[in-house]
Amino acid sequence: MAAVKITVGNNGSLKVEGEVEIVDASGNPFGLQGRTVIGLCRCGASKNQPFCDGSHRAINFHSEITAFELPPKKV
Ligand code: FES
Repeated sequence: MAAVKITVGNNGSLKVEGEVEIVDASGNPFGLQGRTVIGLCRCGASKNQPFCDGSHRAINFHSEITAFELPPKKV
């Protein structure tokens, strides 16, 4: 298993499991306070970006994703 696992939740967040560092565009790290499970917003409605705050339910966010193969990496 990978050191970090990201689960694309149906109608909700990206669940990130593992030891990760999340930084802003300037490279400043968010203080995760030792959390190894984090939900990242993918609906855009969270008031606590980039983290999920459950707002996806209030906006009835709908996105069900099934895993697929990406095209070959360009060299
Ligand atoms: S995915 Fe949960 S608030 Fe956006």
